[in-house]
This record gives sequence, structure tokens and C-alpha cells, in this order.
Amino acid sequence: MTGQPRHFLDLKDFSLPTLRTILDLAHALKTALRSGERPDLLRDKVLAMIFERQSTRTRVSFDVGMRQLGGQTLMLTGQEMQLAREETIEDTARVMSRYVDAIMIRILSHDDLTDLASASSVPVINGLTRRSHPCQVMADIMTFEENAGPLQGRKVAWIGDSNNVLASWVHAAGLFGARLSIACPKQYWPDEGLLSDIAEVGDTVSLDTDPVAAIADADLVLTDTWVSMGDTDEGERRRILKPYQVNPRLMGHAAPDALFMHCLPAHRGDEVTDEVIDGPQSVVWDEAENRMHVQKAILCWAFGIESI
Ligand code: CP
Ligand code: NVA
Repeated sequence: MTGQPRHFLDLKDFSLPTLRTILDLAHALKTALRSGERPDLLRDKVLAMIFERQSTRTRVSFDVGMRQLGGQTLMLTGQEMQLAREETIEDTARVMSRYVDAIMIRILSHDDLTDLASASSVPVINGLTRRSHPCQVMADIMTFEENAGPLQGRKVAWIGDSNNVLASWVHAAGLFGARLSIACPKQYWPDEGLLSDIAEVGDTVSLDTDPVAAIADADLVLTDTWVSMGDTDEGERRRILKPYQVNPRLMGHAAPDALFMHCLPAHRGDEVTDEVIDGPQSVVWDEAENRMHVQKAILCWAFGIESI
């Protein structure tokens, strides 16, 4: 590939038209797959996937998605690479760029992700860092659009601690014109970086501690595990976040046709109850499926393919 590689690191790096192109492609790829078409748009391309942490959805959806596009994948863990013996992330990027066509990485340090990307001459995709999870939120938006139409002007409630998924939702709300209402206990409030992102998007995002106020009349209710990868204070978190459980009583304050989403894995009985996640308003399985369609679109876009 000549010129700058097309990285996919954070939604806030993008303009709305580019994200719209990716989402339109994702919808088209999903429709094509449903009608039995598997265009081999990435024939012979190789995607290296590096996992520093556990994954079910990201790992399987990228792997299967790449195969559906005619490409191949390499599954690697940081532990089995020389990264674990202090080879720098930049040198790793330089070497891998000579072998593979793109890199997807799940790594806790966001700085490591950006260092990898700046030294890589092939596209790098963020498969989750402590700071953000942009592929997840693209799948969430796709799922919302399928079930409830455009996000513009709609109310989205985030119930729980501040984390990587929320950060990508803050970026998305600013770009897509959703009204994001966050209910978060003070102990797990957004850090300085995310507070400044929130300030940048202005009135689009509101931040408070009260889950009932945040969820009132929401069109979409989001939550996530109370203990993200890298968190160490599990007992304390479960105690403090207890009032933030999304259960039928809390869901009752949202709009009657509100959707419920969760990036998964869910901890049933903690952040969400069975009645909600298994109930009629939950679209979590569509959301998980859409990871694959949207990531196929991100991969195509990274290789300069913007429509089928
Ligand atoms: N939602 C998500 O990223 O799931 P995995 O951790 O299983 O990849
Ligand atoms: N916030 C969660 C998301 C998991 C997909 C975590 O970082 O563990």
C-alpha cells in the first residue's frame, strides 16, 4: 500500500462521512451474506491479530469475517511474541509490516496502540484498549440503525462506570448527534482525558450520578461489566455499582420501545438481570453478530474498498 495506512484507532479521529461510509458498507455486506454472497474483496490479504487479553467476540468475528472476504488471519498473543521479552512495540510493528497486510490488536495500553500504529506501514485496528473500543460502538450504532433508525437526536443512556466502551460512545455521540446521558458513581467517573472529550462535544453529553434521571425516556440503554480487563478492585466495584444494575424496574423509566445493549460478556445478576438481557427489548445477539459485519467493513475501508 502506498501513502499513509488507513488506521482505525478511535472514532474521534474520523469525520462523520467516513464512518457513514463504513456503516453503509457494513449493512450492505450483511445483506449480501444473508443472500448467500461472499464477495472475496480481500482475497489473499493476511490480517495478524495480537491479543494481550482474553476475547471471544473480537477474536472470532475478525477471524470469520476475514475468511468470508477471502483473506486469512494469524492469531498471536503478546505472551508468545518477543514483545513479552521487551522487543519494542515499534520494532514489532516495523517487522510485522513486512509480512502481513493489516494488524488488529487488543492491548490495554492505548499509548502502545498508537506507538504500534505510528511505526506500522500497514493498517492497524484497535480491538480494545483501556481507553476505547471503537469497533464495538460501530456495531452498536449499526444495531441501533437496524432496529430503530438513525441515531441523530435520539437519547442514549449509559448506566455504570466510565470505561473504554463509554469513551467510544462519547466520541460517537458527538459525531452522530445522539444525546448521551451518563449515570456513573463519582468513584468511577471519567478520567481527565474523557472529561475533556466530553467537554469538546458540548451539550450532546450529560454526566451525573443518578441512573433514573439518565435513563428517563431513553431510546437506547447501555451497560457493561463493572470490572473491565485491568481493573483490580472487583469487590469494591460490585458494592459501589450495585444501584446501577439494569433491571426491569430501572428499564421501566426508559421509553417503552427502548432497546437494551451490552457489549458482552455479561455478568448476569450484576450489571444486568436475566429479565432484561433475555427480554424483548434486548438486541445483544444482533449487536454481537454485527461486530463481524462492521469489522468486515472496517477492513475493506482500510484497504480502500468503500462499497460493493
Ligand atoms: N465485546 C467484546 O469485545 O467481546 P470480547 O471481549 O469477547 O472480544
Ligand atoms: N469494558 C470491558 C469491555 C469488554 C469487551 C473491558 O474492558 O473489559
